[in-house]
Amino acid sequence: MGDRPVKFSRSMDLRNKFHSFVPGGSHTYSKGDDQFPVDAPGFIVRGKGCHVWDVDGNEFIEYGMGLRAVTLGHAYPPVAEAAGKQLLLGSNYTRPSLIEYELAETVVDLIEGADMVKFAKNGSDVTTAAVKLARAATGRDLIGICADHPFFSVDDWFIGSTELSAGIPKAIRDLTVKFRYNDIGSVSSLFKKYPGQIACLILEPAREKEPIGNFLHKVQQLCKENGAVFILDEMITGFRWDLGGGQKYYDIVPDLSAFGKGMANGFSVSALLGKKELMELGGLHHKKERVFLLSTTHGAETHALAAAAATIQVYKREDVIGYLHAQGERLRKGIEKIIQEYRIGEFFQVIGRPCNLIYVTKDPEGNHSQPFRTLFLQELIKRGIIAPSFVVSFSHTDSDIDRTIEAVGESLKIYRAALEDGIGKYLKGRPVKPVDRRFN
Ligand SMILES: Cc1ncc(COP(=O)(O)O)c(C=O)c1O
Repeated sequence: MGDRPVKFSRSMDLRNKFHSFVPGGSHTYSKGDDQFPVDAPGFIVRGKGCHVWDVDGNEFIEYGMGLRAVTLGHAYPPVAEAAGKQLLLGSNYTRPSLIEYELAETVVDLIEGADMVKFAKNGSDVTTAAVKLARAATGRDLIGICADHPFFSVDDWFIGSTELSAGIPKAIRDLTVKFRYNDIGSVSSLFKKYPGQIACLILEPAREKEPIGNFLHKVQQLCKENGAVFILDEMITGFRWDLGGGQKYYDIVPDLSAFGKGMANGFSVSALLGKKELMELGGLHHKKERVFLLSTTHGAETHALAAAAATIQVYKREDVIGYLHAQGERLRKGIEKIIQEYRIGEFFQVIGRPCNLIYVTKDPEGNHSQPFRTLFLQELIKRGIIAPSFVVSFSHTDSDIDRTIEAVGESLKIYRAALEDGIGKYLKGRPVKPVDRRFN
C-alpha cells in the first residue's frame, strides 16, 4: 500500500457492466458510485481487520467498515469461527433454534431496561416494527421523527419524508411529522399541533451533537404526558457509545429501542427491544388483537446469531468501546494538528464522538461543499485510504491510524492548494452526491 500507484482498470470495466444489470450499480445506497470519486475501488474482494483489497489488487485501510456494522474488524477470528461452526450445524430450521433462546436471553440481559426482544435482519425491519407497535398500542397514525437524524428505515413511513419519496403515496407521507434535536420547543409544538394523534417519537440518542439540557429525558416526559411511545434508534449508538447502547450511556429507558449494525460484526442481525406491555402485543399471551410483529424467513438465521453471541462475548471480554474511543481520539488529534498547521480549520473539520467521527468539507466561501468532499476522498484513495467517515473499528491499530494521519496530511495539502488556486485543477470528474441526507 502506498508504494505503488493505485490503478482501477478492472474496477472501471466491471463497474460499467454492473450498471447494465444492477440499477445504481450497488445494493446499498451509500456504497454507490455516486458516493465516491471517479477514481475509486469499484469492487472489494476481501478484508482483514481494517484492511481491504480490491479487484485490481490495491490495498486500503477502511473507515466506516460496512456502514459502521463491522465494529471488530473484517473476518475477525472469534466471530468468523463461531459463525462457521454454526453453519455446519444448519442455518435455518422449522422450529426456533436453541441459539435463538440463548441470544435472546443474553441481549435482554444486556439492554437493562428491556423486558423482551425480537430479532430480524436489518435495522429498518426493527425501526419499522417499533413504529407499527406504537401505532397498534396507541391507535394513532402519526409518527414523529427527528429531522436532524438522517436515516431510520428503508420503509415508506421514513423514505416518504425524504427527497427520494417517489413511489410513496401522499397519504403515507402525510403521516410522518418532524421535530428538531435539542429543541424541546419543537417537540411540545408538535404535540400541540396534533393533539392525541401522535403514536410515537423516534430519534437516535445522539449523533454528532450530544443531548443538551436533559433533552432526551424531556422528550420522554412529553411522550408520557401525551400518551406517545418513546423510541430510540440505537443502530449507531448501540455497541459504540456503550455495550448497553446510548440508553445506558445517557441513563434513560425508552419504551422501545432498535439495534442493528454492530450487533454481529457485519453479519445481518438486528433487534427490537422494549417493555413487555408493548412487545407482548406481538405475542400470544393477551386478549387484544395480535400485532404481526417481525416474522421473516431468515430472521433468526443461526450462524448470524452465533456471530452476534461471539461479538458480544468479545465486547464483554475486552474493552472494545474504550478502544474505539481511544483510536478515534488519536486520529482526531493527529488530523487537528494538521488542520492547525495548514490553517484550514474554517474549511475542514472533524466532528462527532471519537468512536464515530465524520468530517465537514467547505469551499473558499465557507459553504458546505461536495466538490471539496470529493477532492478529499480522491486524494485519500490515492494514498490507500477509503474514508467516507473516520469511524474506527477494534482492528484499527496505532500504525493504521498514523498511516491515515500521514495520508490526511498530504491530502489536506492539496485541499489547501485547491482552496487557493480553484478546485478545477485538482478534482477529477464529477462531485459525489450529498451525504447530509445519508441513505443506507
Ligand atoms: C440510525 C439508523 N437507523 C436505521 C438504519 C437502517 O438500518 P438498515 O440499513 O440495517 O436497514 C440505519 C442505516 O444506515 C441507520 O443509520
